[in-house]
Amino acid sequence: MAVKAAITSVGGYVPEYRLTNQILESMVDTNDEWITSRTGIKERRILKEEGAGTSFMAIKAIEELLEKRGIEGSEIDLVICSTTTPDMPVASTAAYIATKIGAENAFSFDLQSACSGFLYGLVTGSQFIETGKHKKVIVVGGDKMSSIIDYSDRTTCVIFGDGAGAVLLEPSEEFGVQDSILKSDGNGREFLYIKSGGSMRPPTHETVENKEHFVHQEGQQVFKFAVTNMANVSAKIMERNGLVSDDIAYLVPHQANKRIIDATANRMGIGPDKVMLNIHRYGNTTNGTLPLCLWDYEKELKKGDNLIFSAFGGGFTWGSVYLKWAYNPS
Ligand code: UT7
Repeated sequence: MAVKAAITSVGGYVPEYRLTNQILESMVDTNDEWITSRTGIKERRILKEEGAGTSFMAIKAIEELLEKRGIEGSEIDLVICSTTTPDMPVASTAAYIATKIGAENAFSFDLQSACSGFLYGLVTGSQFIETGKHKKVIVVGGDKMSSIIDYSDRTTCVIFGDGAGAVLLEPSEEFGVQDSILKSDGNGREFLYIKSGGSMRPPTHETVENKEHFVHQEGQQVFKFAVTNMANVSAKIMERNGLVSDDIAYLVPHQANKRIIDATANRMGIGPDKVMLNIHRYGNTTNGTLPLCLWDYEKELKKGDNLIFSAFGGGFTWGSVYLKWAYNPS
């Protein structure tokens, strides 16, 4: 039987500071009613520690994961860090994380795929397990979105938050990733991007003055693509694996907008009781959303449960994963 990659432990971390809708009302022209009805978000966490980047949260999430599994960092073969906000533009954030968690025998790399990054990382990490060559792979997804958000732009500052979550992948004959669909379409980059700071438009005084280092999003355009593609890909992965709604224990959706999540669940024919949801507490943490869902819902999950992951993000990038959960709550 072919080896599969099972999730065998989960860790998470969100900063303490809560940026509520009420606080945002005092910062920009917005209100709790608009934010709640359009997005489902009530508050998001913001990392305030001076000099702390995405690795700060990723390390905490992984430390929890290792402790829960009762293993040492030295047993890890590979660390993949899915992030859109690396600590620094050049030095690998994953390499720093791996060293700090004591993964002295591991190699590591960053993966950038915007909001689909964790899903891409999960599939990539799984393949290292499936070859039989690697036994313990960590995929950590996290972002310090507050580092790239303009807190005077009401169209983006109400949406995003900071956080990180991590999973451990180990070989299994039965459980783990059963199937995946990953997609991308570069025509989407005009709708969701940071204009400057990359190789096309390096930073200058002018780019800073023009606020070109912050996230720019054409919300309605992204919404249209996200709704259609997340629903399509989730329905397709169910269909090609012969799954009907009763077979699904949970949808694990990217937390960008509750209306996108509802549309995806609708298309899959599943009710709200089978949808992992924490957007009201964390907002959109980009690479953190999927593992933070697992972190929050871990105690509800039982061995053999069928989960459908689904994500959509900048690029555009999107996809879906069908995974069988590998363990009961402790
Ligand atoms: O995770 C990566 C992928 N990203 C996504 O999937 C996000 C997809 N997009 C969305 O979730 C939604 O488009 C948003 C939540 C970003 C925006 O919701 P919307 O229902 O598409 O609103 P809109 O952009 O069409 O704006 C409607 C109105 C506008 O006013 P007018 O032109 O009708 O007068 C906006 O200026 O709401 C206004 N508006 C706000 N009002 C109060 C925009 N932002 C705010 C705000 N508070 N924060």
